[in-house]
Order: sequence, then C-alpha cells, then structure tokens
Amino acid sequence: MSAARVLITRRVPPPAVELLQQAGLTIDLVDQDDPPPRAELLRRVPGAAGLITMLSERIDAAVLDAAGPSLKVVANFAVGFDNIDLEACRQRGVRVTNTPGVLTDATADLAWALILSTARRVVEGDRLVRSRRWSGWAPMQLLGLQLTGATLGVVGAGRIGTAVALRSQGFGMRVLYADSQVNRELENKLAAQRVELHQLLAAADVVSLHVPLTPQSRHMIGAAELRLMKPTAILINTARGPVVDEAALVEALRERRIAGAGLDVYEHEPRLTPGLIDLPNVVLLPHLGSAATATRQKMSQMVAQNVIAVLRGEEPPNPVV
Ligand code: DGY
Repeated sequence: MSAARVLITRRVPPPAVELLQQAGLTIDLVDQDDPPPRAELLRRVPGAAGLITMLSERIDAAVLDAAGPSLKVVANFAVGFDNIDLEACRQRGVRVTNTPGVLTDATADLAWALILSTARRVVEGDRLVRSRRWSGWAPMQLLGLQLTGATLGVVGAGRIGTAVALRSQGFGMRVLYADSQVNRELENKLAAQRVELHQLLAAADVVSLHVPLTPQSRHMIGAAELRLMKPTAILINTARGPVVDEAALVEALRERRIAGAGLDVYEHEPRLTPGLIDLPNVVLLPHLGSAATATRQKMSQMVAQNVIAVLRGEEPPNPVV
C-alpha cells in the first residue's frame, strides 16, 4: 500500500493529509481552493488508488476510465453524492463513500440563519443602514414574517430536516413534514404532522428543503408548487440547487407570489439564474451549510478514514457503494 497515491481535488482542512500520510499513502494535492478544471482532473487521475472529491467535481465514467484499474475508492468530501455516477463506480468495482452525520448540526444551524434573515429581512436592513439613506425607525419599515407561532414545513425529514425541525421548538412553531417515511422522533417530540407536499406548501409559512438530489427530486419545487405557497411564505434551500426550478423561483419572487427566499445552493452552481441577484427579497449564501471549522475537520477525518479502510481491504465506515 506504500506506493498507492491519493488524489485530493482541493485544499482541505486537517487532518486528512496527515492521516493519509501516516497510513503510508502518497498525496497528490490540487493545491488550490477553486475546483480544478476537468482537463486537469483527467490529467492527474491516471494511476490513483484513491480520489477525494468535492461536490463540484463530476465523477463519471470518463474520470473512472482515465483513472484506470488502480482506482479503488472515491471518497466524497460531502454528505451528498449526486456529483458521482454510482452505477459507473459499481460496474468498475470502485467504492464510494460520503461524510454523513457530522455536518447535520452545522447545516441545520445555517438553515436557521437563512430562515431568520429571510423572515426578518436582515440583509435588506443591513443594506439600508449601509446605504446611508436610513432616516430612522418607522412603523411600516421592512415588516417581516413573525416566526413565533408560525408553521414550519420541512420537505425531507432525514437527519438535517429533523435537526431543522427540532430547532423550531424555541420559536413555538407548528411543524409539518413531507417525507415518504414516518418520522417518529418529530411526531413524538414536536407533534409534527406528516402531510403531502401540496398540503405542506399551502399551509407552511416557512418551507425548508432537505431532500437529496435525485431524478425524482429535480425541480420538485417548480412554478406549480410555488403557486401553492402563501404570498407571505418564504422558501429556504440548503439541500441542492436543482431541487428548485430557479427560473420559476425568480418569477415568483419578482411577482411577490411568495414573500422571500433564502438560498445556500443554486441550480447551476456557482452561476446564478439571471434576475436572481437583482431581487431584494432573496438572501444568497455561497453554499456554506457545512462551513463550520469543527465540522469541516470532522469531514476531513472521515474522508481519510474511508480511503484508508478501502485501501487496506477493509469495509469503509461510510459506504455509499
Ligand atoms: C454536503 O455535504 O453535501 C454539503 O452540501 C457540502 O458540505
């Protein structure tokens, strides 16, 4: 195993590099913060035994074939793995791993940062003060959505959706959720009600998305779904951009068919759909869900442990394939 090489497609926080080196692996680090151009990925991957990838790298048959038979594991530095062609990996006997659990709280916290800032128009307020055009307190100024007693609709009640819902207790919110499975924890602790998506959209004041990106969830929220929402409601997306039809969202926000949106992810990330950036009623973050120091360090440890396990011929702790 001493000669095995692990390609890491971006700088990552410690301790991944140290752990991999201690395990006797050779590191090939793309020493930058931006995604490597695809041509560079294809040039560097041949002969690698392990590949540590980010959600922005498309790992498909072409990358796997360029890597060749030496490649044993693709360890995604993320819980989501929609950037990886799982079937192509399966066919070539390449294991795939992810980083579940350790980013649940950080992502739920960030969803709440977006819920609060969108509901109470925090970013618009900040812009107003900085513009030097603020003339003082006014009874009608930047009125927003009161969260206390409002209804939270969680779409996808897995780990992160559940953590977001549990945090709503502090605001005394009623919780609805849409999921193919019953979530006993939410029902027992919060008296949350499981409803169909269309019922949730019609009733919720805050709609928060927490589904993985799959062919079924792509554009799950489009023009028709946005039309079901209340004009006073807000949409929060910390899941994956393509779950929302972003052009339809721009229209709905422009026409004030919904009150606002808080987005951490984008349909064509990092590009934004034209018009989105010009809207005052949307809060835009640069995919910060898991961006807490302690969380990123845990993710770093996990990707290394997954790679080391596979290259030792053991079962990885976080297998996807
Ligand atoms: C994930 O893990 O899937 C996030 O989107 C990035 O941390």
